[in-house]
Amino acid sequence: NQRITVTTLARMRREGEKIVCLTAYDAGFARMADAAGVDVILVGDSLGMVVQGCESTIGVTMDDMVYHTRLAARGRSHALLMADLPFLSCPDTAQALHNAGRLMQEGGADMVKLEGGAAQADVVARLSMNGIPVCAHLGLRPQFVHKLGGYRVQGREADIAALLREDAHVLEQAGADALLLECVPATLAQQITQAAGIPVIGIGAGATCDGQILVIHDVLGITPGRAPRFARNFMPGHDSIDGAIRAYATAVRDGSFPTADEAF
Ligand code: KIV
Ligand code: NA
Repeated sequence: NQRITVTTLARMRREGEKIVCLTAYDAGFARMADAAGVDVILVGDSLGMVVQGCESTIGVTMDDMVYHTRLAARGRSHALLMADLPFLSCPDTAQALHNAGRLMQEGGADMVKLEGGAAQADVVARLSMNGIPVCAHLGLRPQFVHKLGGYRVQGREADIAALLREDAHVLEQAGADALLLECVPATLAQQITQAAGIPVIGIGAGATCDGQILVIHDVLGITPGRAPRFARNFMPGHDSIDGAIRAYATAVRDGSFPTADEAF
């Protein structure tokens, strides 16, 4: 079977086939996720927390991202490989282009993900016009933790919800190939997904998005500290890591993950 591309993701959205996404930070887990039929493997800057043991993603560097993307690239064969642009990697369009280029050329990524709203439209356009597929990350943006004052749901208020809908529209117009919504109310995520013309991946954004993503540590129940409300440990009832990843993929595809209790 052929490698998954942004065209595949667009077709899956059109045909109502759920997109299964999961993080991986090295070859071994990328191989397992790929073999379990995960569609998109994300080398997330969440590695700052779950791999490096930091309190936030702020300390993750471009070199860290390139390194882990290169490891994950060796493990996947079928899945689309997406990599995060970390904190301060996109201060202007030239730097963003340079850094996204590194993730693709040195890391082997097929697509990059960028936290930011309409203010990042010029960055998205610059990457897009250079042939770099982009996923725009909206809602709770962990790189903004110090401006947000913590990790909490975004878009409960009508004015913020309107801004998020506008951000989604502007970024799609700028050339984004996908959107990721993190920790937004399920009804808002549904509105954005319906209005969008590109695949929408959710985490803590309800079941109506075109796809779901989780951090592998949450799927395996090995997250240090308290796991987020929207996550599910798939290990109980499964006797292997492979079994848990397959159970997650099945639950996304049949719509049994996430439940209303796993959303906002
Ligand atoms: O870094 C990450 O793992 C992410 C996902 C949680 C969406 O951005
Ligand atoms: Na991230």
